[in-house]
Amino acid sequence: MKTFLPLTLLLAALPAFAQDIAALTADTKKTVLPVVPKVVNAMQEAVAEKGVAGAIPVCKEQAPELIKEKRKETGWDIRRVSLKTRNAERGTPDLWEVRQLADFNIRAANGEKIDTMEKSEIVTIDGKQVFRYMKALPVGDVCLKCHGPADSLDTGLKAKLAESYPDDQATGYSKGEIRGALTVKRPL
Ligand code: HEC
Repeated sequence: MKTFLPLTLLLAALPAFAQDIAALTADTKKTVLPVVPKVVNAMQEAVAEKGVAGAIPVCKEQAPELIKEKRKETGWDIRRVSLKTRNAERGTPDLWEVRQLADFNIRAANGEKIDTMEKSEIVTIDGKQVFRYMKALPVGDVCLKCHGPADSLDTGLKAKLAESYPDDQATGYSKGEIRGALTVKRPL
């Protein structure tokens, strides 16, 4: 009978585990997601007021700064990642993130809406339990000005981008594609 005990325990633990993930997801979203519309609004305003080249600092400094503030406030690891980075140093995904980003693209191809696309999972890193959350970032109209097809970009902007990002891979997107994701690692 000894062998039944662990199984019973496991089954008893499973619903709690699912509940944990739901609660952690809700709490993480409430804390972190307000950053996303803030960046998009700042982007739209900056492009309207200063033109595209003048708006570069919103994606380059303001977005990372807002994310940094959230990191300080929560102690969680929060970043922006993409399969095609402009700034590889900051935005290169780890293996788990690569898998989710690839899966997001498959889910989108199967007709799932990108606006609400996300992934939550509890994983073990170096023997410790970590809650991971990722939210897809869709390409909207304003994003195309700097991440759209290379030959459609403003000449002044292109020159500035080439100067700062000689290895830029983050062009060639069309509206409704997944530009990347906001990613959170929260120690449990
Ligand atoms: C004014 C130009 C501009 C616009 C408009 C813009 N971006 Fe960016 N984006 C950049 C720059 C510059 C970087 C590199 C930032 C850095 O150095 O960390 C970047 C980086 C990113 C990254 C980080 C990953 C990477 O490629 O390095 C994401 C994600 C991203 N942008 C998403 C968006 C989304 C979504 C929109 C539309 C809401 C958008 N961007 C609009 C210029 C822009």
